[in-house]
Amino acid sequence: MSTTPPTGPGAVTAPPLLIYVNVPFCNSKCHFCDWVTEVPLADLRLTPETSLRQRYIKALVEQIETHAPTLNSRGYRPRIMYWGGGTASILTLAEIEAVTGALHRRFDLGDLVEATIEGSPESMDPEKLRLFRAAGFNRISIGVQSFDDTRLRRIGRVHNAEQAERAVLAAAESGFENINIDLIVGFPGQEVDEVERMIRHAVTLPVNHFSVYPYRPTNGTVMRKQVRRGTSEIDVDEQLRSYVHARDLLARHGFDEYATAYFGAPRCESDEVYYKLTMDWIGFGSGANSLIGGRFLLNERGALHRFSAAPQRFDSDTPAYSPHLVLHFLAQALTTVDGMDARTFQLRTGRSLRAACEEPAVRRMLEQVNRRGRLIVDKRGIRLHRDDMASAYITMNSVDLYAATEQNAG
Ligand SMILES: C[S@@+](CC[C@H](N)C(=O)[O-])C[C@H]1O[C@@H](n2cnc3c(N)ncnc32)[C@H](O)[C@@H]1O
Ligand code: SF4
Repeated sequence: MSTTPPTGPGAVTAPPLLIYVNVPFCNSKCHFCDWVTEVPLADLRLTPETSLRQRYIKALVEQIETHAPTLNSRGYRPRIMYWGGGTASILTLAEIEAVTGALHRRFDLGDLVEATIEGSPESMDPEKLRLFRAAGFNRISIGVQSFDDTRLRRIGRVHNAEQAERAVLAAAESGFENINIDLIVGFPGQEVDEVERMIRHAVTLPVNHFSVYPYRPTNGTVMRKQVRRGTSEIDVDEQLRSYVHARDLLARHGFDEYATAYFGAPRCESDEVYYKLTMDWIGFGSGANSLIGGRFLLNERGALHRFSAAPQRFDSDTPAYSPHLVLHFLAQALTTVDGMDARTFQLRTGRSLRAACEEPAVRRMLEQVNRRGRLIVDKRGIRLHRDDMASAYITMNSVDLYAATEQNAG
């Protein structure tokens, strides 16, 4: 089998592509959420009638129309699609049709194996769910976070547990066979008992994949400020106990962990791409990034005005082997059982994994990881011992280690 991806128009095998669409709108800014910290609240909560949101949707269409011809001429064939954010399910029927219309006009989507739409419970109803199915989505990811109403209020959610459960059931009734729910463990003050109740409830639902994220105390969030002010506290040991308890309980119900936070089957193909660089991807929208032909292209998060005014250009274009990117890629890969495969890394970035790991900032990060778990470096690539993945992830998040090493690198 050839290790070189065909890139020219005459290529025999088309390189697969992931298409990501970013929707930086939500009904609220949740206290824990580190996905939209850079989006001003007024922009995050824009309604479909507002001119900036309308311009954003037009800009998405324009960006797709600009870049699709080049990608097609380089032989790329979309295999996976993911609409996230923010809250992709917040879009109206007309907005979804505008963007899917552009994608269908400009790409051949006949090879798509997985098309996921991500959303929050209060923004889904049976009509919308049917529309998602009709638009070609075959997987849905629902942000549930918790089944405890007190917890949901405390973390700033605008839905309650019953609405979350109704959204999951309605998704199943609309014909979704691949349903993921997002849950979080390890909030300040959360004990293992609460996690146990949450998982026991979760496994009664028609869900085949769970994302159980250990809470990350990320800068710029309301909850992080509370931790700083001392009004709440992170207990790393309790976080780990909670995660391990959730993992064991899920395993007993047949949902195996294939990466830190990810359980069940089939695996989420789009996460496989981001975490293990298994194919190139194009990200449309403000806050989206792309990895195309060894270049990392980025549109800054939160810059909706900039993006809507000139969607054809990216805010930055960097070689994928740049040390700050390698740090990010490896940090993600080390949360997976397989880790980073050396040949795949070389294929995506154009540099050998061995050389990339020799960069001082990358070496420093790997040394720190190695103090928290058994790092395996061999011909195949680099990965953490399976039993150490979660503890390394949780302890590193809680001391902001990745953030610190990124600053050093910068
Ligand atoms: C981009 S959000 C989209 C979900 C959707 N907007 C919703 O709220 O239901 C993806 C997921 O990231 C997780 N997440 C966000 N911030 C987090 C944090 N600080 N720690 C752990 N998980 C977090 C949440 O579980 C969230 O559902
Ligand atoms: S968790 Fe979802 S709804 Fe809440 S702020 Fe983040 S992206 Fe928006």
